[in-house]
Amino acid sequence: MIKAVRGTRDLLPPDTALWNFVEAAVRDVFRVYNFHEIRTPIFEETQLFSRSVGEETDIVEKEMYTWLDGKASGFETLMLSTWMLKHQGQIQTSAFERVFENRARPDLVVELDGHLVVAEFKRRTINQATINNVKQYRKAFAEAFPQEGDPKFLLVFAEEPTSYVRHLAQANGVDVEVMEIPGYEPPESLTLRPENTAGVVRAYIEHKLWDRGLNKLYYIGPQFRRERPQKGRYRQFYQIGAEVIGPPSSGSESPARDAEILELLATLLDRLGIENWTLELNSVGCPSDRAAYNEALRKALEPVVGQMCTDCQRRAVTNPLRVFDCKVPADQPIIEKLPRISQFLDEPCRKHFEQVQEILKSVGVDFQLNDRLVRGLDYYSRTAFEFTHGALGAQNAILGGGRYDGLSESLGGPSAPGIGFAIGEDRLVLALKESADAVQRKPDVYIAPLGAGMDREAARLARELRRHDIVAELGDETFRLKKSFETASKLGARLILIVGENEVKAGSFALKNLESGEQVSVPRGELVQKIRSDR
Ligand code: HAM
Repeated sequence: MIKAVRGTRDLLPPDTALWNFVEAAVRDVFRVYNFHEIRTPIFEETQLFSRSVGEETDIVEKEMYTWLDGKASGFETLMLSTWMLKHQGQIQTSAFERVFENRARPDLVVELDGHLVVAEFKRRTINQATINNVKQYRKAFAEAFPQEGDPKFLLVFAEEPTSYVRHLAQANGVDVEVMEIPGYEPPESLTLRPENTAGVVRAYIEHKLWDRGLNKLYYIGPQFRRERPQKGRYRQFYQIGAEVIGPPSSGSESPARDAEILELLATLLDRLGIENWTLELNSVGCPSDRAAYNEALRKALEPVVGQMCTDCQRRAVTNPLRVFDCKVPADQPIIEKLPRISQFLDEPCRKHFEQVQEILKSVGVDFQLNDRLVRGLDYYSRTAFEFTHGALGAQNAILGGGRYDGLSESLGGPSAPGIGFAIGEDRLVLALKESADAVQRKPDVYIAPLGAGMDREAARLARELRRHDIVAELGDETFRLKKSFETASKLGARLILIVGENEVKAGSFALKNLESGEQVSVPRGELVQKIRSDR
């Protein structure tokens, strides 16, 4: 049996009614705050995400669904033959080529200058899995050819791998060779969007949306991250998000925008009846604050990083701020003692943050300051926030967001300060008290055709009622009356309308209220009114 892929799921009725209820409420709120919908593609160029979310983030390093699009096949063979040509004189005549049957299969095993080399040819580095494969090869090789000793492992790339892959290769004793291939054109690397801010900012630049002044945009749609699935965490999940972005002259930088977004979120959660949420608020400062902060973190990490997990050891070198994303319990006491970003904010950032807080207080939105909240994406500057909810368990962040004042520039656009958020819709639905049953619209009436030829009459009646926005479900003339009644109550219909030969002749139909048991005969022309008045 073919099943839905791990981390993805089908949303079925009646649950979908709950999703629609949420989305309708959200659209209503967005409307009164004058937000308008944007729909960006579900896949984008990979570099959009690596440049905005950040090369060293968990999302980009480990979680993206990325593939080389188009004519990639046959390229590894071209790389292989180019490599063989390049090393022509050095490859021993006794060289052997082998494959690891039915196990991990590198592209080549060859004796080069007296050393055994296991080489894998990669068109482009995709992620850490590439290097992890080598570990498997090493094990499989030792098992398959115990007499050969420890060969040299080599990864051959057509493009410079990311700094992280080089770092990891080195740590695993794997050599990396970047090979020039005549006529090489990089294939298009595409990625299923892991989040939507990057796509919105790309669209802002592409369509010169600054001409419109301040853009207040919202989106609802699926996002994709290869995370370990658990309650509230999926590989295909849904976000409801919004972005306020525009040229500085449109007021996009103002703390008033931040406060408006946060107040909107409080209103939205309240409107949905979600209680006991907590707004955690921080400022992550501007790039110059962060440079000083990163330096301080590096220094503070130096003497202790040896005791931390391998991810943190890498982060300490490449992007110390990301150490705060660590979930390893043993590392937490160390992280707890690291310097706080709040000590590094410059005067304008401090003032901006204070103004946000003042407005929030004046509109009565409660918040908690948390200067360890740095968010798992690199593009943030100044205000960063999360709303958490106790009932969600481990995955308690119902939404997150913040300011990203330099993001447009880093994607080649003009200065366009912005702030936004994304709600995890899956988690929002989990936190709802409302039940799917309560929000689903049940049939107003079940139309029960009774006897041969009555399907026709029932269809005519259904068409008439539905035109008047009456939810009507149609039975079948082959059903006995008992079965029609059973089906109607199973569906939760309020009324049942009997359409038999006698009724059609008389032009008046038996209408029974399934709750009260009351039955009346209603002339055709009065049906709509009667069914409505009975609601
Ligand atoms: P994020 O914190 O990565 O931010 O995601 C926002 C929310 O999406 C999370 O708080 C969570 O509720 C939900 N979420 C994330 N991953 C999963 C998952 N695997 N399964 C279920 N829900 C998940 C962003 O994505 C930013 N783009 C938000 C933003 C917009 N910042 C500025 N503008």
